[in-house]
Amino acid sequence: MVVGRIIGGSVGDKLVIRLKNESDIDVGDLLLIKDKNCQFYVKVINKMISSLVPEQFIEEMAGQNLEYNEGINLFDEKERFYQIAHAKILTINKDGFKPPRTIPSFFAEVKKVNKEDFKFLEKKGEVEIGYLRLGTDYLKDVVIKLPATKLVSHHVLVTAATGKGKSNFTKVFISGLLESDEVASLIIDPHAEYYGGKGIKGLSHHHNKARIEYFTPRWQEMIGSYELKIFAEDLKPTDFHGVIELSEAQREAMDALEKTYNNWWIRTLLIEKPINNIHEELGRKVSPATLFALKRRIGYTLELQDGESGLAFSIRKREGTSIFEKVQKAILEGKTVIIDTSLLGSEAEKLASAAIVRRQFGFYRRTKQLNPESFEKLPELLIVFEEAPRVLGVEALSHGSNVFERIAREGRKFKVGICAITQMPSLIPKEILSQMNTKILLGIPSPSDRNAVIESSAQNISDESVEIQMLDKGEAIITSPFIDFPLPVKIFLFEELIKKPAEQKKIVLGL
Ligand SMILES: Nc1ncnc2c1ncn2[C@@H]1O[C@H](COP(=O)(O)OP(=O)(O)O)[C@@H](O)[C@H]1O
Ligand SMILES: [Mg+2]
Repeated sequence: MVVGRIIGGSVGDKLVIRLKNESDIDVGDLLLIKDKNCQFYVKVINKMISSLVPEQFIEEMAGQNLEYNEGINLFDEKERFYQIAHAKILTINKDGFKPPRTIPSFFAEVKKVNKEDFKFLEKKGEVEIGYLRLGTDYLKDVVIKLPATKLVSHHVLVTAATGKGKSNFTKVFISGLLESDEVASLIIDPHAEYYGGKGIKGLSHHHNKARIEYFTPRWQEMIGSYELKIFAEDLKPTDFHGVIELSEAQREAMDALEKTYNNWWIRTLLIEKPINNIHEELGRKVSPATLFALKRRIGYTLELQDGESGLAFSIRKREGTSIFEKVQKAILEGKTVIIDTSLLGSEAEKLASAAIVRRQFGFYRRTKQLNPESFEKLPELLIVFEEAPRVLGVEALSHGSNVFERIAREGRKFKVGICAITQMPSLIPKEILSQMNTKILLGIPSPSDRNAVIESSAQNISDESVEIQMLDKGEAIITSPFIDFPLPVKIFLFEELIKKPAEQKKIVLGL
C-alpha cells in the first residue's frame, strides 16, 4: 500500500515525504521506497502538518471558529491540508546493502514495510534477541538475530536508564549464547538476578541449564551451585592493582611481602606475625607505618568475618582446587559461569571479580602465545559486568589500569570480549566507548549519556537522539559494524522467552 510520495530531500540530510491522508505513519516507523532498480529503507524521524493555504487564512479561519463559533469549511481539504514526514535513509539495497549515497526521485512510491522486506536479516546471525520494532509497535514476524561470535570479541555495551531493560536484554542474549557452545560467558552478578531462584526467573530456568555454573556465598541454599571462595594463598599483588586504591609505597610493600613469604604473604601480614617482625624480616626496607596501613587495607577488602574467613575470601589453607581452576574448566567446556557478588562490599566485589577475570584473560593470552593450535579450539569468552564505570570509569582508571580496561583495549586479539552494562556511559572514557563496537541502546533520558553513546557509535545515529530519549522498556536501537543499519528492536521479555518450548521458537524463526 502506497502511503506517500517523495517530494524532496538530500543525501546528507533527510527525505521529505508527502503522506497520504489516511495513512497512520508515526515517528519511528520504517518505510520502503522503491525507485528504479534500487530500494531505500528509511525511518520516519519527524512529522508535521502543512498546507497550501496561506498562513493568514488559516489563522483567520481558526479565529472565526473560536470567536464566532463559525464552522470550518475547507474547500479541497485533502489536497490543501496534509501531513509531511521527514525520513532518514537507513540503507540502500541495490545488489546488496550499501550506505546511502543517492536519493530517490521525485514522486517515488513510499510504502510500509512487511516481513518480506526483511528476509535479509535472517542470515545475519544466530542469537535471537527480539522483534523488528516500528516506532512503538513491532513486526512479530521478523525476529532479529545477532551474530554471536563476531559480536563478542568486538565488545558490547548495554546502556539505558534504570528499569529500561538492560538486565532483561542481557538475560535474553545469554540465553541465545547458551544454545551453542562457541561462546563461553563469565557473568559478574552484583544483584543476584541472573541465575534466578524461588519465584524469580533466571538463566537457571533455561533448558540448557546444565551449561551454567553458579558460584555464590549462598551455595548451601542453592542446589547445584558452587561455593564462592577465594583463598588468599592464590592472590598475587597484581590482583589488587587498579582495583583498590594503593600508594606507591603500599604496592612496593606487597611485592616485598610476596617475595619473602610467597603464597602466605597475606596471611603472614594479617595474623601470623607482628608488624615489627615483618619489618625486620623484610630487611627494614618497608616502614611499619606502611605495613600497618596495608594490613588494614587488605583486611578491610577481604571482609574476613572471624578473622580468617569471610563470605568470599579466606586466609586459611585451601583444600581442593581453587575457584580459578574451577571457573577455567567450565569456560573451556563453553559453559556460562555466574559469580554472585551481591553480598560482598564494594572493594571485595571488585577484588573477587578482577581476580577471576584476570586469571581467565591470562589463560587465553598464554594459550595463544604458547599453544596456538589449542587456542584455535578455545570458545570465545564474553565477560559480562554491571555498573561498568566502577571499573571502566574515568575515576576508577585514574588509580591505574585494570584487567577490564585491558580486555576492552586488546581482548579482541585473544578472543575475549566484554559486555559492559551501565546507566551512565558518559563516565567511561571516549576511546573505551568507541571500542565497544556493538551498542544496545535502550531508553536514555540524560542528554550527556545520550551524546556519549551517539558520538561513539558505529553508525551515525544523531538523528535518533529524540527517539533514544523516549524509548520505553525493552525498546532498543542497536548499532554495530555487523549489521547494515541502526536496528530498531523490541527485545523479548526474558520471562516470555523461556516459556516457549524449543520447537515453537523454530516456527517463529521460520518466517
Ligand atoms: N523487553 C522487555 N519487554 C517488556 N518488558 C520489559 C522488557 N525489558 C524490561 N522490561 C520490564 O522492565 C523491568 C526492568 O527491567 P530490567 O532489565 O531489570 O531493567 P534495568 O536492568 O535496565 O534496570 C522488567 O522487570 C520488566 O518488567
Ligand atoms: Mg539491571
